[in-house]
Amino acid sequence: MKADVLLGLQWGDEGKGKIVDVLTSKYDIIARFQGGPNAGHTLEFEGIKHVLHTIPSGIFHKNVTNLIGNGVVIDPVIFKKEISGIKSTNIPTSTLLISKKAHLILPTHKLIDAASEKAKGKEKIGSTLKGIGPTYMDKTGRNGLRVGDISSPEFKAKYEKLKSKHIQILNFYDYQYDLEEIEKKWFDALVTLKEFKHIDSEHYIHNAIKEGKKILSEGAQGTLLDVDFGSYPYVTSSNTITAGACTGLGIAPNAIGQVFGIFKAYCTRVGSGPFPTELFDEVGARIGKIGNEFGATTGRARRCGWIDIPALKYAININGVTKLMMMKADVLSGIDVIKACTHYEINGKKIDYLPFEDNSNLKPIYTEMKGWNMDLTDLKNLSNAPKELHDYINWLEKILETPITIVSVGPDRMQTLYK
Ligand code: GDP
Ligand code: IMO
Ligand code: MG
Repeated sequence: MKADVLLGLQWGDEGKGKIVDVLTSKYDIIARFQGGPNAGHTLEFEGIKHVLHTIPSGIFHKNVTNLIGNGVVIDPVIFKKEISGIKSTNIPTSTLLISKKAHLILPTHKLIDAASEKAKGKEKIGSTLKGIGPTYMDKTGRNGLRVGDISSPEFKAKYEKLKSKHIQILNFYDYQYDLEEIEKKWFDALVTLKEFKHIDSEHYIHNAIKEGKKILSEGAQGTLLDVDFGSYPYVTSSNTITAGACTGLGIAPNAIGQVFGIFKAYCTRVGSGPFPTELFDEVGARIGKIGNEFGATTGRARRCGWIDIPALKYAININGVTKLMMMKADVLSGIDVIKACTHYEINGKKIDYLPFEDNSNLKPIYTEMKGWNMDLTDLKNLSNAPKELHDYINWLEKILETPITIVSVGPDRMQTLYK
């Protein structure tokens, strides 16, 4: 048995949470492999909306194990809040397992994130301020604290040592803070984190694969936010790509099965950084309004634009995507002309790839297609969709050389069409 991977192909918020929830009934284990509470994965069913940050999106299904992998970074305070939110719906959380090797976000990591962003001024990354960058820096700098350390008698001493390092860093910045209260909350929340099973998750995953269990690895953020391949430095601090599922769960590359690539029928980006197809006109505003494009974690308005084919092709190649899933087709209903960027122009030259050089100077070259006017949100079968939507899907499949297997037409679990 091989482990499947589901991840975002754009700048995050593609609708990963919804599709993981839709697919969960086919799996035994849902495992998050990277990122942390910078993620906001939205699920809607039976009239209720849930936003998950650290916990895998399979949690609302019975008989499924949910695992937070070693590649994830955990803020105990946010974790505690998520757990109480899930418990309030009477969903059991006892099926949740946590890797001993997952790193902890300390209160001072969040402070350093905020201080660093403030110091950057206009050049800020637009971080979610959840302490992600500083926590991964301590991981690769070999200073971090991990979930498995919590039960060690030296935990407090290790914590104090790292905290004093952080205070020295904070002294470097012109940044005011009050640590006492947030630190108290953090230690209170550790009690909740301790109540869960902390495991050697790579062994668990290895055995599960051997026993023929079906595993879905859930990505966070998106390929264009990957620390190596995204629009650096305007990226997150982890590998958001398929390779991240290998390092973030301990899955061997040859044990990866299907790779599901999730993308919106258009593009959004929250935070700073280049966005070649960004729209500043009424069409962009319309997409943002109808698509309700506000960050699930920070509430910030998402920047909106047309679909970007060179960027999508790049993401498909890096991830080895085997099946595509197109989200939010309903949001484009009623737009007369739909545009898709097929090339960029830079310094008078036409190119069809994302170059190393400053991507903010790329001028998109568009192909235009006729839009559709039908409300798709009640559609039960893709065969009843308007011809223009079929044309868009067929055109995308051809140019991306990958099949589209799901078309999503609304936020609810049921608003999912299969091809
Ligand atoms: P994720 O981070 O990839 O899980 O995505 P988010 O949850 O941050 O953002 C996706 C948003 O779009 C959420 O508010 C979803 O409820 C919503 N959504 C998902 N699929 C669809 C869809 O097909 N149509 C519409 N209108 N909304 C959708
Ligand atoms: P999901 O999993 C969209 C963006 C931030 C910022 C950059 C760095 O919900 O798709 P960070 O806090 O990671 O240091 O921020 O990355 N970002 C996301 N954008 N969706 C996300 O997650 C994101 N997680 C981080 O806005 O530009
Ligand atoms: Mg999100």
